[in-house]
Amino acid sequence: MSIHLGGDLYTLRPALDGRLRRILQIACDLAGKPLDQLRVLDLACLEGHYGIELAMNEAEVVGIELREANLAKARYVKDYLRLNRLTLCQDDVRNLSVEKYGQFDLVICSGILYHLDAPDVFHFIRRIFEVCTRLAIFDTQIALRPGETFTFENETYHGLWYTEHDESADRDTRLKDLWASVDNTRSFWFTPASLANYVARVGFSSFYECLNPEHAVPEDRRAYVAIKGKPGIILSSPLTASMGFTPKPERSQLSVVGPNIKHGPMFRVAKRLLPQSIKNMLKPSLRMLRILRSGSTPKFLKKE
Ligand SMILES: C[S@@+](CC[C@H](N)C(=O)[O-])C[C@H]1O[C@@H](n2cnc3c(N)ncnc32)[C@H](O)[C@@H]1O
Repeated sequence: MSIHLGGDLYTLRPALDGRLRRILQIACDLAGKPLDQLRVLDLACLEGHYGIELAMNEAEVVGIELREANLAKARYVKDYLRLNRLTLCQDDVRNLSVEKYGQFDLVICSGILYHLDAPDVFHFIRRIFEVCTRLAIFDTQIALRPGETFTFENETYHGLWYTEHDESADRDTRLKDLWASVDNTRSFWFTPASLANYVARVGFSSFYECLNPEHAVPEDRRAYVAIKGKPGIILSSPLTASMGFTPKPERSQLSVVGPNIKHGPMFRVAKRLLPQSIKNMLKPSLRMLRILRSGSTPKFLKKE
């Protein structure tokens, strides 16, 4: 990681890091306190860049990383910049607990969720919820299609299995791959819907995707923010107030393209030119393909 040490000295040649900018901006915008009053946890911190940034901004930071080779680089910068409010711990993130580390205003979970196997990743997210008092950032790889499933606490989650290491690789070989999982040979990548469902089930009150500040990454890398807040009390709609948690459905390829087709030029021309009888005949098929929404329009919305 390219960290400026002062003057023209860097740990690596100067480089842009959109993720760094994003994480800092989310902290500034959403943590609800000035940076110097925050307690921050940087999970699987690698060479420590995000935690170091927050510590340079006077936050109290704990970085957890298992690989000594990565941690040594973070320690070097900590000592060089005299970051007394940064604590670096050599540990497995799967050992995270309130008893061991206390609680944090901001938890940075960047680049680690998708390195954990199931069910570990489920326990890990629950632990993040427990140590978090306000805000958690999940910057992670996701599965774009709901290909494989994993059942946890009687609920089914969708995603894909990603191979981390060859089954035959020994522990030393696995540790030498500095950015990978430490021991598990495969990891579970959630689809966005399944991740949102699980994050809600553990108790985060809302969950957002961050689009700005922008960061040019492939489509299957996303940054989400989970907020641990109090549920709002709805006063103006008893029906809405009585609504329980509704799991987000998985998106099939068609449900993604469907709405786009509906707003496209071909669809609009066909809607104008085709006789009503033909349109009525086509409607059930278009509903099945999710190009049209199912169900009828409520009477009070219909034009007389
Ligand atoms: C892809 S890097 C991401 C680093 C950094 N957080 C980021 O977002 O750029 C993954 C890091 O997770 C660490 N790691 C993987 N599994 C871990 C585990 N179970 N406990 C602690 N660290 C782990 C690796 O050593 C590596 O530093």
